[in-house]
Amino acid sequence: MAFDRVPLVAGNWKMYKTSGEGAVLIQDLALLVTEAWDQVEIAVCPPFTALKAVSTVIELDKLKMRLGAQDCFWEEEGAYTGAISPRMLKELRCDYVIVGHSERREYFGETNETVNKKVRAVFAGGMRPIMCCGESAEIHDGGGTETFVRAQVREGLAGLDPGQAAGLVIAYEPIWAIGTGHTPIPEKANDVARTIRATIGAMYGPPAAMSCRILYGGSVKPENAHHFFAEPDIDGALVGGAALNADSFAGIVNAAR
Ligand code: 13P
Repeated sequence: MAFDRVPLVAGNWKMYKTSGEGAVLIQDLALLVTEAWDQVEIAVCPPFTALKAVSTVIELDKLKMRLGAQDCFWEEEGAYTGAISPRMLKELRCDYVIVGHSERREYFGETNETVNKKVRAVFAGGMRPIMCCGESAEIHDGGGTETFVRAQVREGLAGLDPGQAAGLVIAYEPIWAIGTGHTPIPEKANDVARTIRATIGAMYGPPAAMSCRILYGGSVKPENAHHFFAEPDIDGALVGGAALNADSFAGIVNAAR
């Protein structure tokens, strides 16, 4: 982690937690991270149906935690059955929206093109995207990681202005590391993070490259988090399974201090 970028630890709850369960989890978590939240930005990304309940707890208990959604559509409103717009998320006090998670790409047909529309819609809606990228096991084994990730970044993050690019959060999540207990060697993850930063630099200039934050995601646990956070181009983590339990998520947050 570099000293001039505030670390961000974000929990992606995926399709876990009802709104009642989410409200309990955020309260439990708050008790464990109060000493960290002046040094580490903490975000939780519940399912859409739990956003209101979690947002209300954050507001009433004055928690220094940020709220994120896991996806959104790019239109502001319209006849799009089942879709949720950036405007709806902003009203619930979301600061972040995860865009292009590999599970969305795999099960819901997201492409770099739809990811790009969403990224731009999130910015236009006054929030910040957490854009996910990362290669499959096949690409990894074939040595194609950096080429693949560079294309995801170029296409997914095209058409921004440099100010927006400076506020980007990009999560590098190798698909083979998600939910598997396998992780890349931290130095290798940092190599990919450095490539992502260089790509942002080529697209939007060095200031944007130095300001944007790059997270590592994939089987992050309290036991391994500090190895990733020790790397210079890794500014935090996007956490799945370990974010569903207050103790383990707090352990990761505290490792980022
Ligand atoms: P796990 O932490 O469960 O491997 O999930 C990572 C992830 O997909 C976060 O978005």
